Amino acid sequence: MKILVSDSLSGEGLNILKDSGFDVVVDTGLSEDQLIEKIKDVDALVIRSGTQVTARVIEAADNLKIIGRAGVGVDNVDVDAATKKGIIVSNTPDGNTLSAAEHTCAMMMAVARNIPQACASLKSEKWERNKFMGVEFNKKVLGVIGLGRIGAEVAKRFQSFNMTVLGYDPFVSEERAKSMGITLATVEEICRKADFITVHTPLTKDTKNLINTAMFDVMKPTARIVNCARGGIINEEDLAAAVESGKIAGAAIDVFVEEPPFNSSGAGLLKSDKIIVTPHLGASTVEAQVNVAIDIAHEIINVLNGEGAKSA
Ligand code: NAD
Ligand code: MLT
Repeated sequence: MKILVSDSLSGEGLNILKDSGFDVVVDTGLSEDQLIEKIKDVDALVIRSGTQVTARVIEAADNLKIIGRAGVGVDNVDVDAATKKGIIVSNTPDGNTLSAAEHTCAMMMAVARNIPQACASLKSEKWERNKFMGVEFNKKVLGVIGLGRIGAEVAKRFQSFNMTVLGYDPFVSEERAKSMGITLATVEEICRKADFITVHTPLTKDTKNLINTAMFDVMKPTARIVNCARGGIINEEDLAAAVESGKIAGAAIDVFVEEPPFNSSGAGLLKSDKIIVTPHLGASTVEAQVNVAIDIAHEIINVLNGEGAKSA
């Protein structure tokens, strides 16, 4: 059987696939039409976020049994089209949790202390100590929207900075939140009270534009907001306007509605000095990439051997 790996995958995962005895082909950077040509006789497709597995691609796949995503989000796969054709769509939900949580912490600290801006200033031979006054986390309120794997890890880390944590997640009970030391609140309450807000939900019809002008209107002018989850949970145009007008103090953004964001609403976020950005680096650590590659390789082999999928 044939496995096509169409995005870069860590060597540890590739070796597991190759050692399984299946025919493994690595072919990255394919256009939709090129993928349609190659997918015909493929039994398993391994992707990260680069490959768009559209309905056309799925339509052209005669033998495909599993689409394996080395990572969490399956928003680059037409899951409905795959499901209709009986193709399993599988992900690796745990492998990059800590890396994404740590990147969120790094972004929160960087935006609190203006680290990227101060670094750029000093490297251009300026010594601007007054310009980059920061704020502490101590005794401040952190709002965490989405209390799943990553949100919970972020909350835990900022509790050690002596922050009070408010959380919103319609699928988390009071008891569960309490056991994490988190007080449940509505999104609006979080927006009113928090000094820092971080979003950790999937992008769904309920979370798209969850943070918009109405929410920025009630935030403190000193509030800072972070998105290391998915572009679009925070409305990009509303965020750029809120920072520009001084409704909030700053933002740290790792993910965009369109990636790269150069020709979309995300472009506005690149222009502000008060918004720091990274190019979707949440899972970009050596450890996370090894973890997700190993996890997806085992999943693919299980399915091709008829043993069923573990994740969905
Ligand atoms: P998870 O499934 O463990 O947690 C998501 C949480 O969001 C769940 O607890 C769920 O109940 C909650 N949720 C769902 N709908 C909600 C709503 N309407 N309002 C509030 N909460 C809601 O997922 P995770 O592994 O913690 O990942 C969180 C996000 O981070 C996902 O969007 C994922 O794709 C993204 N992610 C990004 C990177 C990156 O590189 N930046 C890396 C890994 C994951
Ligand atoms: C994910 O969903 O796992 C992350 O966004 C990271 C990635 O795309 O690799």
